[in-house]
Amino acid sequence: MKVDFSLPVRPVIQPPPMVEEVLGADERAALKTRIKALMKQQNAVLVAHYYTSADLQDLAEETGGCVSDSLEMARFGHAHPAQTLIVAGVKFMGETAKILNPEKRVLMPDLNADCSLDLACPADEFAALCDAHPDRLSVVYANTSAAVKARADWVVTSGIAVKIVKYLHSQGHKLLWAPDRHLGDYVQRISGADMLLWQGSCVVHEAFKADALKKLRAEHPAAAVLVHPESPAAVIAQADVVGSTTQLIEAVKTLPHPEFIVATDNGIFHKMRAAAPGKILLEAPTAGEGATCQSCAHCPWMAMNGLKNLARVLECSEAGKPGGNEIHIEESVRAKARLSIQRMLDFAAAEKAGHIQLGD
Ligand code: 13P
Ligand code: SF4
Repeated sequence: MKVDFSLPVRPVIQPPPMVEEVLGADERAALKTRIKALMKQQNAVLVAHYYTSADLQDLAEETGGCVSDSLEMARFGHAHPAQTLIVAGVKFMGETAKILNPEKRVLMPDLNADCSLDLACPADEFAALCDAHPDRLSVVYANTSAAVKARADWVVTSGIAVKIVKYLHSQGHKLLWAPDRHLGDYVQRISGADMLLWQGSCVVHEAFKADALKKLRAEHPAAAVLVHPESPAAVIAQADVVGSTTQLIEAVKTLPHPEFIVATDNGIFHKMRAAAPGKILLEAPTAGEGATCQSCAHCPWMAMNGLKNLARVLECSEAGKPGGNEIHIEESVRAKARLSIQRMLDFAAAEKAGHIQLGD
């Protein structure tokens, strides 16, 4: 099947400067104690992404929440009985939680935590493309706004994109894919589906360099290469495992290799170290010869989440003051976006239960 590459490549949306929270041991302990008390009072649970700080990941687990990829974040928040969901991640993750749980309060440490993929796909331009291709089902990556999800037929995350696209292809559908061009290209090559690809990319994964990776592999012949599929094709081509953040952590745990070269945000190393303490983990290179590094394998939007702003948000929401950073989504948009996300969750459940058989 031929891919239509006629859409123009979009410039990578650049993030604000990186500001990482640095805390002393006493301050960290005091903040965690305060946050735990506020969470209890407010019947809140913390759902954090693997790219957030080690402090937030630890806090999520210590308080009965979860640390996971974006698919599991959506599933966990939906299934958990807490009345308040705190989402430590980026805006689309908070919006997904609100879309699935309109009756719950969804808070985020910083509402400015965006994503270059989400920003590269304005809802009006996406709608115009859908209108121009009524013969194609639209499949969008979870890294999009609520308004884009509301216009899409299906939402997918990196953990399930290949399976859903294979399934839709087997049903005879032609697809319009947005916004990540590298993930779209990867999924197209695996599935053979007819896909028109939006040409956005992620500032973190776009920066991994294939030539420098080749050199690093030569220096570490015993290492397995783990790559998130938002990376360029020449990086993916060198991978032993391509997968979502959860799938990459699983690979560190289960593969026999003593060393791993990892091409994704380095926030993931916290969980990888815990999953396989004896193994050596190396960052895939982001600055090849003559290249510049914009993100240095860490997402500046994810770094906006910290213990200080989490405590502030809970204090404000307790006192009913503004600054509670609550996610609100207009009901007509939310209800439509719910349908496309629910399709993904239903598919994931059916596939897990063995009700959907996919060919190789
Ligand atoms: P995962 O769903 O694999 O966690 O990816 C989310 C993301 O934003 C990767 O950059
Ligand atoms: Fe978006 Fe990339 Fe950051 Fe993931 S790492 S949230 S895709 S900018």
